[in-house]
Amino acid sequence: MGQNIFDNNVFFSEYIKLRRGKNYNDLLEQPAMRKLLPDVRGKTVLDIGCGYGRESYLFAQSGAKQVIGVDISRKMLELARREYSHPDVEYLQMDMEELGGLTQEFDLIYSSLAFHYAADFQRLAGNLYRLLRAGGRLLYSQEHPIVTATVDCRGHYNTVDGQCVSYTFSDYAAGGRRVGAWFVDGVENYHRTMGEIVTTLAQAGFVIEELVEPLPGKWALEELPELAKEFIKPTFLIIKARK
Ligand SMILES: C[S@@+](CC[C@H](N)C(=O)[O-])C[C@H]1O[C@@H](n2cnc3c(N)ncnc32)[C@H](O)[C@@H]1O
Repeated sequence: MGQNIFDNNVFFSEYIKLRRGKNYNDLLEQPAMRKLLPDVRGKTVLDIGCGYGRESYLFAQSGAKQVIGVDISRKMLELARREYSHPDVEYLQMDMEELGGLTQEFDLIYSSLAFHYAADFQRLAGNLYRLLRAGGRLLYSQEHPIVTATVDCRGHYNTVDGQCVSYTFSDYAAGGRRVGAWFVDGVENYHRTMGEIVTTLAQAGFVIEELVEPLPGKWALEELPELAKEFIKPTFLIIKARK
């Protein structure tokens, strides 16, 4: 069973506050995901770690014929059902480690910033492959391995004269569980090297079509100048793959 940190009261309210303000999701990750998103009209979509459902809802609004959003967090799903309900979207409380319970095939499996919470990526990749129809697409984002690497979760930027010039991280080769602080102590995620991620997907049967480390556009830098740090160290990794 995966950790359900999003149901922690403090974590949940801080996370939602973050998402309601200027944030890396809207300015960096989502624009890159949208560029890679296949046409969803008439398609079936599985949204894993759907959170409060904004993307699941958008897929349905864009003409997807059926969207299933799964998430481990009761609080996130409550918000999804309240703010992003749609007749063609069904929200299910489910651990992504237990996707074996789903039997239907999907045209698109989508996941935004959830897979770094999965302990067993090999099992997850096998389930994703099984749940995708032949020719279907997997599109997902996760925290970049440079971000997840450092064992004490204390990678940091180095500055010279107040300017960020480099980033220090360590423990890259040691895959596995990390426990650090993000709003609250004890937040778990899993580090995997780029090699492990790509090899696991390839061995599950996927053909990798694109691997993107998104950079901010000019408009995003104007909104949030600190995004210039992305030119030193990427925050996100995005992979698009085909069955
Ligand atoms: C960073 S949030 C992203 C939410 C949403 N995809 C978005 O972009 O707005 C990560 C989500 O993954 C969910 N999650 C974490 N571990 C999970 C697990 N083992 N199974 C299913 N969902 C999980 C969390 O509850 C949370 O809603």
